[in-house]
Amino acid sequence: MITPIEGFSKLTKNQKIAWIAENYTQNSDEAIKILKRYWNADSDLQKLHDEFIENTVSNYYLPLGIAPNFLINDKLYAIPMAIEESSVVAAASKAAKFWLKRGGFKTSIIGTEKVGQVHFMYTGDFTKLNEFFTGLESVLKNDASDITKNMKKRGGGITAITLKDKTEDLKDYYQLHCTFETLDAMGANFINTCLEQFAQTLKREFTNSLLFSNSYEELEIVMSILSNYVPNCIVKAEVSCPVEELNDDKNISPEDFAQKMIRAIAIAKAEPYRAVTHNKGIMNGIDAVVLATGNDFRAIEAGVHAYAAKDGQYSSLTHATVENNIFKFWIEIPLALGTVGGLTSLHPLVKLALEILQKPSAKELMQIVAVAGLAQNFGAVRSLVTTGIQKGHMKMHLMNILNQLGASEEQKVTLVEHFKTNTITHSAVIEAYNKL
Ligand code: MEV
Repeated sequence: MITPIEGFSKLTKNQKIAWIAENYTQNSDEAIKILKRYWNADSDLQKLHDEFIENTVSNYYLPLGIAPNFLINDKLYAIPMAIEESSVVAAASKAAKFWLKRGGFKTSIIGTEKVGQVHFMYTGDFTKLNEFFTGLESVLKNDASDITKNMKKRGGGITAITLKDKTEDLKDYYQLHCTFETLDAMGANFINTCLEQFAQTLKREFTNSLLFSNSYEELEIVMSILSNYVPNCIVKAEVSCPVEELNDDKNISPEDFAQKMIRAIAIAKAEPYRAVTHNKGIMNGIDAVVLATGNDFRAIEAGVHAYAAKDGQYSSLTHATVENNIFKFWIEIPLALGTVGGLTSLHPLVKLALEILQKPSAKELMQIVAVAGLAQNFGAVRSLVTTGIQKGHMKMHLMNILNQLGASEEQKVTLVEHFKTNTITHSAVIEAYNKL
């Protein structure tokens, strides 16, 4: 029987590995071998990874691929993508090439506002609290001036602090709803440090205020934390072309293709079951670049999906129209990204990914990431409304199946050739492999 362990984090890496292998795997020698196989021979690099988190026992690799030929605002990019799904980089590259011949992607930043909140309970009269708050904003900013001075020098900082009465949603619940400009930083640490200072100031000023002399008037700080919902940190990316230039597929007319695309988007707008998968396809592109550039993909995921539901129903993040014979396809999404701080100067591959992207500012990275999402969605929906998704997907997945079967290089070449003209299914690959 496995018993709880005390002080696991204090064990050495080898001790941790031995413990986990011994207690939770069937073949501990094999488990240890696998974990160690992923250690990096460069001990400095390994140490860096060991220290990213607690209790590191090994590294978890994802492929880093490159999707070239992305023309964004007339500048050519090769986009690094970290992702395990076989068809994503191929689909991105294909979409990039398609739009390269049609003027490329155009992008713009609609806003860069970040958000954080101090959540607190207050048991008195709102008008009094509001009066108290009138004089408070400058004190809050002043108390945080040490934290904000560098950001301010660069043109960023706190942009607004608002008192919000949330008692209709929850009894006695109020907030300081705060907005920030964090420039090239994602800003989580900066925002959270500011918020914790605001909370302290709020409590102190409340305690010292002569306005609240009744015993029932109490203020209790609950928590201070940034919000990953950033509906005013928005980027737009779009592609467009005359309808007749839209399709290079001989099996379908450009007009039919445009209509099929528009209908597919309309379905994703109307039907949440489809919208979730539609947006998942967008996130295939977005997460891969977010991850490759060392940003927090969970924050991005949470914020993007909340935005997709902002009008009360989960819906498509992309839009399509045909007006005056011009097909237009676009995305508008919230992306709070950073190109300084965090892993960006620490993780060698992240540093390199940013270098490949020509050392973008956070705004430029927002635009590149939005384009990756739009391209991915274009590729997916295009396949869905024409050939179906499985053809391309299974073509890319074929290698995974062959590797699973243990095919030799020579067998792979033969089978890849064979499946150029035969439908790929898992069982068909096994059959063809066995025959070989
Ligand atoms: C698969 O990872 C993504 C798709 O399902 C997206 C979509 O359906 O639009 C192909």
